[in-house]
Amino acid sequence: MTRLWGGRFADGPAEALARLSVSVHFDWRLAPYDLAGSRAHARVLAAAGLLDPDELGRMLAAIDDLDAAVATGTFRPTIEDEDVHTALERGLLERLGALGGKLRAGRSRNDQVATDLRLYLRDHARDLAGRITELADALTEQAARHVDTPAPGMTHVQHAQPVTFGHWLLAHVQPLLRDLDRLRDWDERTSVSPLGAGALAGSGLPLDPGAVSKELGFKTSFANSMDAVSDRDFVAEFLFVTALLGVHLSRLGEEVVLWTSYEFGWVELDDAFATGSSIMPQKKNADIAELARGKAGRLIGGLVNVLTMLKGLPLTYDRDMQEDKEPVFDALDTLTLVLPALAGMISTMTVRVDRLAASAPVGFSLATEVADWLVRKGVPFRDAHEITGQLVALCSVRECELHEVSDTDLTTVSEHLDPSVRDVLTVKSALAARTTPGTTGPGPVADQLASVLDQLKTW
Ligand code: ARG
Repeated sequence: MTRLWGGRFADGPAEALARLSVSVHFDWRLAPYDLAGSRAHARVLAAAGLLDPDELGRMLAAIDDLDAAVATGTFRPTIEDEDVHTALERGLLERLGALGGKLRAGRSRNDQVATDLRLYLRDHARDLAGRITELADALTEQAARHVDTPAPGMTHVQHAQPVTFGHWLLAHVQPLLRDLDRLRDWDERTSVSPLGAGALAGSGLPLDPGAVSKELGFKTSFANSMDAVSDRDFVAEFLFVTALLGVHLSRLGEEVVLWTSYEFGWVELDDAFATGSSIMPQKKNADIAELARGKAGRLIGGLVNVLTMLKGLPLTYDRDMQEDKEPVFDALDTLTLVLPALAGMISTMTVRVDRLAASAPVGFSLATEVADWLVRKGVPFRDAHEITGQLVALCSVRECELHEVSDTDLTTVSEHLDPSVRDVLTVKSALAARTTPGTTGPGPVADQLASVLDQLKTW
């Protein structure tokens, strides 16, 4: 038994306590980061004269050996080990005997675990950013093929105004760029080393938190030892970023579900990225999109979980905080599955340009063009809106589209209308009219595409 505490206890813990307390089955992923912290700590102990050069050499060699054994799986935690820190101390004791027990001087699991988790998350946030970028790339490549493909833009899932499908796809890239930006911003704030804060009060031993921070790649070290071991803002913030990313992926997933339905029929998924039914032979389902939508629930849940866990905690460390790890590990695991699947689905899907183009002008989606045409002729928008509404009502009765209405019907609706209004009643002209930056015309969409490609290059 390698418990890190026990001197004052007559007996070992009850089985029920040990079972509740153990975290090594999930915190073992922190092992390489814990060992990195141990190397840095060994060096400051040596600099403080608390390890002689020979001891430091043996200590670092043992840490390296243990690191390799952890990586190959030849050193494994047992359920007796309680947590990752305990297991790794056992590994050092096995290699060094009594010398292994010197490393704990001036260090507590409280500053250790906070350091490990920051290191782990900063590392994995970089992988996550890479996967987000791959999905953004896939959407951007599709968008590049559809810079001038007309599509029926919607509000309230009702035909609203024509847009280009490239613009629509890029509208899913923009939130991902913000997610990437949030990760970068989060990393800046998370770049603070808690090591040296000890249990809560820092150490009376002459340690050097600044040197440790530098060696571990942090920008600075803690400003307040009590805050250093209490602070889990970086966990909550990370979970907010992943929850919001989950929401973005869910909204994309929901759209793909709609687009692949018979009623829309805008998109056909590649066989490799679609699923069938065990009973209905004809089925081709967008399960990836649905799983992306469904898994947003657990990503949001992780954030709520940690915020709720933290809200009543007095400073400093409380054991509740052990609950901070599984939600972030789960968020990373979830996104590691979802993002590549979505990227593959998007990059291989076939867009039915004919269906989109046919659908773009229906549902009187060019009505706003009529109103704008009237505005250009000096009619106040309020009246233009009213006149166009009457034209739409007439077309509904006549069961025709706006451009099909007769010349006499036009003038019956309003003296301001004449047959030349038909010039604005094509999707092509409506799209071409949109030339200002950020709008859906092919020109601005090409500019947006170039800018997105530029931004993605920085990742
Ligand atoms: N396993 C704990 C955690 O993950 C770290 C240990 C701190 N334990 C303690 N009793 N102070 O938070």
